[in-house]
Amino acid sequence: MRTTVSWDPSAYGQFAQERSRPFDDLVSRVGADEPGMVVDLGCGNGPMTLLLAERWPQARVVGIDSSESMLEAARSLDARDRVEWVQADLRDWDPASLGEAPDVIVTSSTLQWVPGHLDLVGPWVEALADDGWLGLQVPGNFDAPSHSLMREIAAGHPRAGELTAALDVPSVGEPATYLRLLVRLGCAVDAWETTYLHILDPDAQDENPVLSWVTATGLRPVLDLFEDDDDRAAFVDPYAAALAEAYPRSSAGVIFPFRRVFAVAHRVR
Ligand SMILES: C[S@@+](CC[C@H](N)C(=O)[O-])C[C@H]1O[C@@H](n2cnc3c(N)ncnc32)[C@H](O)[C@@H]1O
Repeated sequence: MRTTVSWDPSAYGQFAQERSRPFDDLVSRVGADEPGMVVDLGCGNGPMTLLLAERWPQARVVGIDSSESMLEAARSLDARDRVEWVQADLRDWDPASLGEAPDVIVTSSTLQWVPGHLDLVGPWVEALADDGWLGLQVPGNFDAPSHSLMREIAAGHPRAGELTAALDVPSVGEPATYLRLLVRLGCAVDAWETTYLHILDPDAQDENPVLSWVTATGLRPVLDLFEDDDDRAAFVDPYAAALAEAYPRSSAGVIFPFRRVFAVAHRVR
């Protein structure tokens, strides 16, 4: 059975600057000069896709996402109708539906939500135009306290079975996983990892900024299960307390280390 995680564009937009840094770092390694066709897979609420349109003003740019609420936010951000926003699940999406071969495919902070994504990368690379580029970025932080505490507290909740199943998200690869895969597909590959030390909430406006961060992303599959306030509190209260201990406030703000995995492939034919 396919489950769909709900997305809240305004909660996701709260740490826009921190979330755009890995996208910028990814795209800076994509060497396309004047691509005609650029696709952003898992475009979310759109600000990053619009950066692609700014970088390549001559390109046709398409943003694909499965969440109608994210696409609605993206459309309202795109005042000049610069991007074609398309609703599709990446597991079903056919690059041929674009009507032309893409020169650049970018996917950032998305494939961790897509079961079997390693099997999708091959057809995407095959679909690239000659001299095309594919850039992908996934979080590599599933063993960080933000996520291990989530699993630990879920395991002690009265609905432990459902909660732990909801947190069983598709695993992501290491840099070498993507490097080997993309080399096998005939590409020149640049793969790496970066741990960002995000400084959250330097102005001390938010009691628990790490909770606010994960509430917009990794915690959503669990939050979607709670209809009852007591049920929700039985998870969120101990989780919030554990996060506050794991990520104490410093004089600069709350330091939130975040590891990410990157790979950029260039298909030269
Ligand atoms: C964390 S957001 C990333 C948004 C943007 N790429 C960024 O870097 O900020 C993940 C996005 O992936 C989308 N997504 C998750 N699973 C998907 C799937 N199977 N098909 C299409 N989009 C999916 C979600 O709807 C969400 O908008």
